[in-house]
Amino acid sequence: MEVRKNFGSKLGVVLAAAGSAVGLGNVWRFPTEVGNNGGAAFILIYLLCVILIGAPVMLSEFVVGRHTHTNTITAYRRLAPGSWWRFEGVAGVFVAFLILSYYVVISGWTLYYLIESARGSLSTDQDFTADFTSFVSHPWIPIVYAVLFMGMTHLVVARGVQSGIERCSKLMMPLLLLIIVVLVGCSFQMPGAHDGLSFLLKPDFSKVTTRVILSAMGQAFFSLSIAMGCLCTYASYFSSDTRLVRTALNVSIIDTAVAVLSGFIIFPAVFSVAGVEVNAGPGLVFITLPHVFQMAFSSYPLVGYLFSVLFYLLLLLAALTSAISLHESVTAYVLESTGMSRQKATLVVSLSCLVLSVACSLSFGPWSELKVFGMTIFELFDFAASKVIMLLSGIVICLFVGWRLDKKMVEAEVTNGGTVPFRLFRFYLFLIRFVVPIVISAIFVNELLR
Ligand code: TRP
Repeated sequence: MEVRKNFGSKLGVVLAAAGSAVGLGNVWRFPTEVGNNGGAAFILIYLLCVILIGAPVMLSEFVVGRHTHTNTITAYRRLAPGSWWRFEGVAGVFVAFLILSYYVVISGWTLYYLIESARGSLSTDQDFTADFTSFVSHPWIPIVYAVLFMGMTHLVVARGVQSGIERCSKLMMPLLLLIIVVLVGCSFQMPGAHDGLSFLLKPDFSKVTTRVILSAMGQAFFSLSIAMGCLCTYASYFSSDTRLVRTALNVSIIDTAVAVLSGFIIFPAVFSVAGVEVNAGPGLVFITLPHVFQMAFSSYPLVGYLFSVLFYLLLLLAALTSAISLHESVTAYVLESTGMSRQKATLVVSLSCLVLSVACSLSFGPWSELKVFGMTIFELFDFAASKVIMLLSGIVICLFVGWRLDKKMVEAEVTNGGTVPFRLFRFYLFLIRFVVPIVISAIFVNELLR
């Protein structure tokens, strides 16, 4: 078996973990949720959720991962031998696998849109909805893109922690941040950008319902990649001097900044084109935005071209670093439990996951009539993963670290053996023991009753 490596630098740690968190959830799901939930007030509630729920859960996952220095399944098994807690690790890795299977399908779409926009064929289109629908429902073209995307993910994961994941994050995350800044600048220049900004900045609290609060919490969970073993696996590659609290804060801040800035890119652009709906749902980036690109830049085709190519490149980079983290949490388990080489373990995960991806992709087309509990395969995977297992597993992680693990050990872990003070330790403990489990249970019950 190969020697277990850690991340090589502090910057690598933050960028890899931020790469996991920053994904389709920020650039695609967040703006959609903001649009559907009334703008600025949603963003404020979202910020509270990140601080009071997201960051503490992330820190708890870091504690488990760094303390054990092993994959998520073995980590829980080792910390709680023979007890039911060990299934927490199994659930995490299983969900990561499930999410990866449909994540590559959507990421494949972004690859297709990047190529189409680079070829210039997006801007000549007439009917964006029909274009999108006929693409995603095609029996094999989206599968080809999903396979290509999985291939890219595979190549990075197969190269290992330092020369694959860390190197790739150090290369792609700065590029991603640069693209965001350029796009925000462009978006602000558009006529009518002002309305988009006030939608994002002026909270209207009359729109806030419990439903909105619950959506914000769910979004915080999804966006921060918590409770699926991804961050726990990454933390197992942290060295003993990595500061857990600071890393959790940095990652939460970067992730939130990217989400809010994506809003700053998308809404001024959308508002600048009359007649385009803000609450356009999941089609926002694949249907509404190409339309916006075409209309807004009709007199400056080159700017429109660059804007759309950069936008889809941004989406693709964000998706790739997240897919890598999902892949790695499964691969680390296969690798360490079977003693296979990393190459082989990566291949096993890529291929078996693609089988599920094919089913997900077909569920947008030929298999769209195939329903389980009234949902297509894609909807079922997403529901099972992000609405059921993820939330339950968030509760379990907090209860595990808050009640089952030795308090002294947790404190030693978050303070690096007492060398970095953490004054809010008691408050953190209060959050994970009481606040987070109660709040997540509320989300869960609400989702079930919907
Ligand atoms: N958090 C990433 C995003 O915002 C995606 C991601 C990585 C994820 N791991 C996850 C989402 C686990 C859900 C579950 O897109």
